[in-house]
Amino acid sequence: MSSKDNIIIYSPEEIEAMRHVCRLASELLDYITPFVKAGVSTLYLDDLMLEYTEKTLGAKSACLNYAPAGMTPYPRATCISVNNVICHGIPSENEILIDGDIINVDVSTILNGYFSDASRMFTIGEVSPEAERIVRVTKECVELGLKAAKPWGHLGDIAYAINSHAQENGYSVVEEIGGHGIGLEFNEEPWIGYHTKPGTEMLIVPGMTFTIEPMVNVGTYEVSVLEDDWTTVTDDGELSAHFEHSIAVTDDGPIILTAL
Ligand code: MF3
Ligand code: CO
Repeated sequence: MSSKDNIIIYSPEEIEAMRHVCRLASELLDYITPFVKAGVSTLYLDDLMLEYTEKTLGAKSACLNYAPAGMTPYPRATCISVNNVICHGIPSENEILIDGDIINVDVSTILNGYFSDASRMFTIGEVSPEAERIVRVTKECVELGLKAAKPWGHLGDIAYAINSHAQENGYSVVEEIGGHGIGLEFNEEPWIGYHTKPGTEMLIVPGMTFTIEPMVNVGTYEVSVLEDDWTTVTDDGELSAHFEHSIAVTDDGPIILTAL
């Protein structure tokens, strides 16, 4: 490991350790998939995921009790964000999934000191064509962002790939919340926004590990955070979608660590 300006460059061995913990996050999302259906509460899903993380994977949840300075500790193991909730939705026994919902399940696991971060969207039963479309376009945005994460390119290349695809489809990308470095900490430098131009921002160097996780909105990109300190919703109440991968940049291009 070496570092310059707070950017950590991870060695191939360290990236191998990250690949392992990131695979667990992806396994956890595979595990929960059959349980995500109408009639269950988001807390039920959270309980299952915490148990699986600890007992089956032998890992820890990074979210549980996560407390950045000045914030209320996050009370659950996962974030589950339904419809107009953009991210950081707190699982609750009072929130029951119904037909037509779109939900994001976001998990972070810790193993041997390394962190992972991944999220996927799920559709519940029959969803509206608009709901289907934002989920598809957001997935495409992440795929385009991943392709743009080339060594010796710039973070602005990723931003542009994502934002232009969202805009072409009539959507906006949340400005205030971005991706982040990940590895020995949950949140490392750099911060990765989606509103910059190609060829601008930080140089992408082999050994960097970070998340790509745009949040795409049907309407305004503006967000509000509820009184619980976490739940982040669209200002206009319209739908939002979000997929997240943790990646490592190598000489040969990006590796998606959270793909199985
Ligand atoms: N996975 C989330 C992210 O990348 C982090 C959630 S922090 C929590 O932003 F405490 F809300 F879980
Ligand atoms: Co993240």
